[in-house]
Amino acid sequence: MHEARPIIALDFANKAAITKFLAHFPNGESLYLKVGMELFYQEGPDIVHYLKKQGHDIFLDLKLHDIPNTVKSAMIGLAKLGVNMTNVHAAGGIEMMQAAKEGLNIGAKDAEQVPKLIAVTQLTSTSEAQMQKEQRIPGKLIDSVVSYAQNAHAAKLDGVVCSALEANLIHQATNQQFICLTPGIRPANSQVGDQKRVVTPKKAQELTANMIVVGRPITQADDPYQAYLQIKNEWNGEVK
Ligand code: C5P
Repeated sequence: MHEARPIIALDFANKAAITKFLAHFPNGESLYLKVGMELFYQEGPDIVHYLKKQGHDIFLDLKLHDIPNTVKSAMIGLAKLGVNMTNVHAAGGIEMMQAAKEGLNIGAKDAEQVPKLIAVTQLTSTSEAQMQKEQRIPGKLIDSVVSYAQNAHAAKLDGVVCSALEANLIHQATNQQFICLTPGIRPANSQVGDQKRVVTPKKAQELTANMIVVGRPITQADDPYQAYLQIKNEWNGEVK
């Protein structure tokens, strides 16, 4: 599975900033947008309704992590918003991930679709040394990432958020359809920002990523629509 549209990370603080940003795109162009904590905690569910009304698809990136019952109840509510995809922390455990999925199935009973559910493995901001010292997980970071991905697969989730560099190993440990959604994407010759391990859209495709999330290369571009098209074409193998 390969979602043709790069997911745009709407890392803005409020609706006014979003409206201004989306004005760069042609009317009727359906985008896949990532709404994260910053925006959701300030604008609430209305921002999801607002974006959906304009024909966009939504990945609600709230990274839930709590006891299974609480996550299940929260997911019932999120599914009712009609988002296309949402996520949890794999560190919450298999039982919590199963509960999250149950919640989505219940909440989406009357909706057009059950949102896809993916898991965050190790945050890319966590170093191997921090993982070993603070989480007291011995061994390599990549082993922990793959093991969390296997847990997510065992809980029947749709995939994980990971680095494109980890996608191949995760697919080997699960299957090729298991979504590896990868941030840290930068077109050639662009600003890296605070991301440490970045790859181009073309490279992400070669590394078997199934979906890509792109923020600043589009949101901070002089011409966001052109930047989006360039990344989309590269991601779809239309640029050699
Ligand atoms: O601006 P940039 O393209 O770096 O944005 C990437 C987006 O993906 C941001 O919203 C960031 O929070 C998110 N993300 C990430 N690394 C992860 C998980 C999410 O960069 N491991």
